Amino acid sequence: MLKAKLKSLPVERMRGEVRPPGDKSISHRALILGSLCQGRVEISGLAQGADVRATAWCLARLGVDLQLDGCDALINGQGLGGFRQPDSALDCGNSGTTLRLLSGLVAGARITTTLGGDKSLQKRPMGRISAPLRKMGALIGGPQDGTRAPLYIECRGVRPRLHRLEIASAQVKSMILIAGGFAHGLTQVEEPAPTRDHTERMLCFLGADLCTEFPRVSLRGPLDLGPAALRVPGDPSSAAFLCAAAPFIRRSRVVVRDLCLNPTRTGFLEVLRNMGARFETQNLRDVDGEPVGDLVMRYGALRGCTILGRLVPRTIDELVVLALIASMARGETVIKDAAELRHKESDRIAGTVDAINALGGSAEATDDGMLIHGLDGPLLGGTIRSRGDHRLALAALAIGAVTQRGVSVEGAEAIAVSYPEFVQQFNSLGGSIQ
Ligand code: S3P
Repeated sequence: MLKAKLKSLPVERMRGEVRPPGDKSISHRALILGSLCQGRVEISGLAQGADVRATAWCLARLGVDLQLDGCDALINGQGLGGFRQPDSALDCGNSGTTLRLLSGLVAGARITTTLGGDKSLQKRPMGRISAPLRKMGALIGGPQDGTRAPLYIECRGVRPRLHRLEIASAQVKSMILIAGGFAHGLTQVEEPAPTRDHTERMLCFLGADLCTEFPRVSLRGPLDLGPAALRVPGDPSSAAFLCAAAPFIRRSRVVVRDLCLNPTRTGFLEVLRNMGARFETQNLRDVDGEPVGDLVMRYGALRGCTILGRLVPRTIDELVVLALIASMARGETVIKDAAELRHKESDRIAGTVDAINALGGSAEATDDGMLIHGLDGPLLGGTIRSRGDHRLALAALAIGAVTQRGVSVEGAEAIAVSYPEFVQQFNSLGGSIQ
């Protein structure tokens, strides 16, 4: 059980090697796409947080023969026809990825059901999935004309078509591809900027007829996928928390092994490079369609930078920790084009700016980002509330190691959503979280 209040104390060294949890986005997809296969699907390296468990749980309720054992799962897939009506609404907990991706599956599989979740999930925008689902032929109900969860979905069969997305969202793109996998014909999605492409990579790896030529992804349905074995590489978004303190502490060297280095996910490394960080990636290889390698992060003074445009979807889950890092770098950091941050598990623009100021730094919120005045030295430290947001809690704990007095996080149990092993892994590198 994770404590509701954790304190991260300043430390003198961050050194060691660690294998972060399996990538959360890829874990969701392995379970969902695995359940569309016909035959035995073995999955290893899954993330063990509550979000991925919510996906496994919902799939089991939809009739998927799925056994989850720690980081491993075994699915006895029945193909596209292997789903049944759940006896009550599906609870996606805190997980937007679960709700959005499974909406596509439910519509495609002609299951009539409701998908809901916790208070945070009920506040998040769902019009972005209701609109394309309606265009594909689904009937959608729910609060505010089906733009908020719980979402009621009823569909007699998905129509293949072209979708042009106004916002860059891998969840929306993936929902459409999953629904389109059940349709007879060509489902196409055009996105305004490249977003994480794990769904496309995994579908190709599993043998689907899919091609990508930015801005368009085309999938010919119906899917006909066979047995498979899938290995989930380490999560770069979780690794960002392991690496956050090292650049500020002399003689630090943190090695993160088996990390997914998919370019749609490594924007935070590009940002850290622009800030002057010293790191390298090694042992680069392909694991089941994803680029994987090891990351070695070292001590090195950091300066402010600008994050905008196409870099934003590639750093979207790391912007909280990057902003906290920037608050201790030399000079100004500007984050723009990131209004999506207001629609995550909490309003991350407000939460991050408040956290920086509460810890003795200086930051201002803007409509679509933030302005951070770097201290060129450690934050003082203090206490922040997680706002129920795992990434805010993890970022504050990671950065606590390089503050003067440490950082206490109230509501720290939120980290179980994506990274229940964080305290143990961070402390194994020299961190001191109690
Ligand atoms: C995710 C996509 C991103 C990301 C989220 C996971 C995914 O959201 O923020 O944590 O697994 O597809 P959007 O695609 O909605 O931006």
